[in-house]
Amino acid sequence: MVTVHKDHHSLAAMLGALKMVIARGPHEGSEEFFRILRAMLFYVREFSDQVHYPRESDLYFPLVMEALPNASASVQRNEQSHVNAVHELGMLQRQLSAWQRYGASQRQAFETAAVDLCDRFMAQIELEEADLAALLAQLVDDDAAGPEIDLHLQRESIAPTGTSVENTTPLAIGQDQEFDRLYIDITHWLTQFVTPPSRSKPCMHSGE
Ligand SMILES: [Fe+2]
Repeated sequence: MVTVHKDHHSLAAMLGALKMVIARGPHEGSEEFFRILRAMLFYVREFSDQVHYPRESDLYFPLVMEALPNASASVQRNEQSHVNAVHELGMLQRQLSAWQRYGASQRQAFETAAVDLCDRFMAQIELEEADLAALLAQLVDDDAAGPEIDLHLQRESIAPTGTSVENTTPLAIGQDQEFDRLYIDITHWLTQFVTPPSRSKPCMHSGE
C-alpha cells in the first residue's frame, strides 16, 4: 500500500502540473509546450496502465476485499474507472495531436476535455485514498490480523519501516525505474517551461 500511495502522489502531481501547463498555454516555442503535454499524457496513461493499475488490481484490491468485505462495490467502481481512464487518456492524446496538427480550432476541445479528465482522475484518486485510509485503520484496529493478511502485507510492501520486506516491489521493477526516469525528465522540462531562459539582452559593449 505504500507503493500505491506513492503512485497516487506521483499521478496527482502530474495531473496538477498538466492543468498548470494547459492554463499557461503555448508561448513562442510551442513545440516545447506540445512536447511536455505529450510526455505528461504518456506518463499518466502508461504508468497507470502498465504499473499502477496492475498493482492495484493484482495486489491492493484483493487485500481491500479481504479486509473490508463491504468494499466490493467500491473495488468494482475503481476497476471500471481504470478501463475508462485508459480509454479517455488515449482520446485526449489524439485531441492533442489534432490541435498540434490542425491548429487553434482544436484547442478548446482539448483543453475542456483535459481539465475535465484531470479533475475526475483526481477525484478517483481521492476516493481510492479514502479506501486506503479505511483499510489501514481496519488493519491497525484488527489485532487478530491473521497469517493470510500478513502474507498480503509482505507482498504489497506494507510492512513497517525498517523491516526486511520494506520497499520490496513485487512487480514491474524495470518499468517503475523507466517511469521514474520519465517523471524526472518531465520535471526538468517543466522547470524550463515555467522559467524560460531570459531573453538575451543587448550587448552593452558591442558599440551599437
Ligand atoms: Fe489508484
